[in-house]
Amino acid sequence: MDATKITLDESELPKAWYNVQADLPEPMPPPLHPGTREPVGPEDLAPLFPMALIQQEVSQERWIEIPDEVRSVLALWRPSPLYRARRLEKALGTPARIYYKWEGVSPTGSHKPNTAVAQAYYNQQEGISRIATETGAGQWGTALSFACGLFGLECQVYMVRISFDQKPYRKAIMELYGGKVQPSPSEATEAGRQILAADPDSPGSLGIAISEAVEDAASREDTHYALGSVLNHVLLHQTVIGLEAEAQLQKAGEALPDVVVGCFGGGSNFAGFAFPFMRHRFDHDKDDLRVIACEPASCPTLTKGEYRYDFGDTAGMTPLMPMHTLGHNFVPAPVHSGGLRYHGAAPLVSHVLQGGHMQARAYQQLECFEAGVQFARTEGIAAAPEATHVIKGAIDEALRCKETGDEEVIAFNLCGHGHFDMAAYAAYFAGDLEGHEFTGKMLDENMKALEGLPTMAG
Ligand SMILES: Cc1ncc(COP(=O)(O)O)c(C=O)c1O
Repeated sequence: MDATKITLDESELPKAWYNVQADLPEPMPPPLHPGTREPVGPEDLAPLFPMALIQQEVSQERWIEIPDEVRSVLALWRPSPLYRARRLEKALGTPARIYYKWEGVSPTGSHKPNTAVAQAYYNQQEGISRIATETGAGQWGTALSFACGLFGLECQVYMVRISFDQKPYRKAIMELYGGKVQPSPSEATEAGRQILAADPDSPGSLGIAISEAVEDAASREDTHYALGSVLNHVLLHQTVIGLEAEAQLQKAGEALPDVVVGCFGGGSNFAGFAFPFMRHRFDHDKDDLRVIACEPASCPTLTKGEYRYDFGDTAGMTPLMPMHTLGHNFVPAPVHSGGLRYHGAAPLVSHVLQGGHMQARAYQQLECFEAGVQFARTEGIAAAPEATHVIKGAIDEALRCKETGDEEVIAFNLCGHGHFDMAAYAAYFAGDLEGHEFTGKMLDENMKALEGLPTMAG
């Protein structure tokens, strides 16, 4: 019988993270200080992050060793399995061979603990006792609550209000791991109070929740800030996914994949899976590797956003980052994939997109849920709404192969389960899911807030 589930031994858990910064064909523009507009230095970031993470943020080393303490926690669920989607292939009638990496086997159900564990570890090493963060879908807040618990740290989570209301059990599971949860915008911070004064019914956004968490961390000596995506070190920690998948594909007798697909919110699961494969593009081992990011049509950062400097948060407290952005004031429509509702993008992903090394696509939530249902009924997994975007992208690629007859290898990262998202599936079955279009008018409106900010040309 040909293998369906390709596994690695615990001893094959990667010993080093892959740092794409070492291989970039063109140099990255630097992040800028929000006040001086000069490139940020380590001293600017020190109040918020431990030095080890600040060093990883700028490191040009190709491989960065994973500390044993981090590897031993990751071993609770890693290496995660790679599946051959035989039943999906059959249902689609495609000649393509589809593989998916399954990150939903982590204790908290998504890829997020891969970096949460590393971030909690480095903070504890530096004597920090409390971490503040934001969460959209709740997956990141849950992962960080879990990781902080293991390293004896307190965890304060600001959860986007709309997701807080859509997913009541997320609060309970974060509390189960010892986290404290505050719906955002909240009265607890100046940033939250200002938003509420302007709009008492604000559904919140990741940009607003980040402002609240940064303000919380900046105002307390014992507290650091942690981000679940976007930053270079977060993407770095996620590369265990792609490195394992590469070894697993080899074990399955495949060469490098022809197409690599990931869903895109801030960029961490996408980059964690895709960057290790992209190093073969940069090395010219596989020049024709196609890499595709799938994002929601209601928050089309990569496909419709402008590539320029913008703040990572709504209140303008973070450094200005070179990225695709819909504008830091943008509050995306309340679609169910809360983890993909972010106005900006990881600068590293924006940079490789700008360099023509990958492509991006936007999908409506209805077509993503349709793909999610087909996946559950063939492969058996109830995917998170975020992950249904990558399923849709992979299915489209497989159907393209059906038309052309090409026997390509399609590999995608199934980044999380949807066990806390049944209200979203119920809305889908009840016919209550709405489509949301992002218009050029909305972009023009949002971009007004960026007037006067430095542009990429200087
Ligand atoms: C399951 C899942 N997938 C994807 C994302 C998007 O984040 P990123 O683009 O950083 O992977 C999230 C964010 O919360 C998530 O929970």
